[in-house]
Amino acid sequence: MARPFWLGTGWKMNKTRSEAAAYCATLEAASDLAVLPLQLFVLPPFTALAEVAAALADTPIMVGAQNCHWAEAGAWTGEISAGQVADCGATLVELGHSERRAHFGETDALINAKVKAALSAGLTPLVCVGETAEERDLDAAAVTVARQARMALSGLVPADAARVLLAYEPVWAIGDGGEPATPAYANAIQGSIKNAVLDLAGQSPTVLYGGSVNPGNAEALALEPEIDGLFVGRAAWQPAGLLALARQVAAVVEGK
Ligand code: PGA
Repeated sequence: MARPFWLGTGWKMNKTRSEAAAYCATLEAASDLAVLPLQLFVLPPFTALAEVAAALADTPIMVGAQNCHWAEAGAWTGEISAGQVADCGATLVELGHSERRAHFGETDALINAKVKAALSAGLTPLVCVGETAEERDLDAAAVTVARQARMALSGLVPADAARVLLAYEPVWAIGDGGEPATPAYANAIQGSIKNAVLDLAGQSPTVLYGGSVNPGNAEALALEPEIDGLFVGRAAWQPAGLLALARQVAAVVEGK
């Protein structure tokens, strides 16, 4: 396998510090995780970031934040910089999730500024792109995600653009009431995302799929050639859910 297959979860605005610690303890006790052919990651809320990073420091599981600010420091009350995220021991940062685009007015230009800040702080950005329910059509969706992905990488030298991970997360597939994309639909859009940024990154980017991933669809999604990882919400909010998905997916991606 040329590159690892990614599997991880964002906890959104869930979990106290003690709940986070219990989650980490379960992962640490699962000794087989370290040998699975997967790059695992967990994105806790800021309040648990440092503790989760410390708890998982001796495991191969990457830890990241769910957002960061675009400025290095300064008068931005209530915000958290990329440098502060890195200072917590995190190595990843999720940017541009559809909930942030919808509820916090995040634009493609703002997400691009955050990508630059994250890279400057040495973090790996994980940028979410995806079409809305109104754009749910292979052609319309391809246009939207190409714009979002190209804007996210705008102004980066190819070596930096190549460090950015992308996640295809159709808005209509996410969360309660979401309907997972079919593997074929996700594969087609993910292929178009890769083509859209090839010239900017100088290589085919890593593109994860997210949106109602669950034990019933994870294997079929993981087997698609353009799907390089799975980004899971609800189905991995309990550690047993992440562990079950990891074992299930590892068994099918070995040799992909
Ligand atoms: P979900 O969330 O798996 O609960 O649909 C996915 C996401 O928001 O990344």
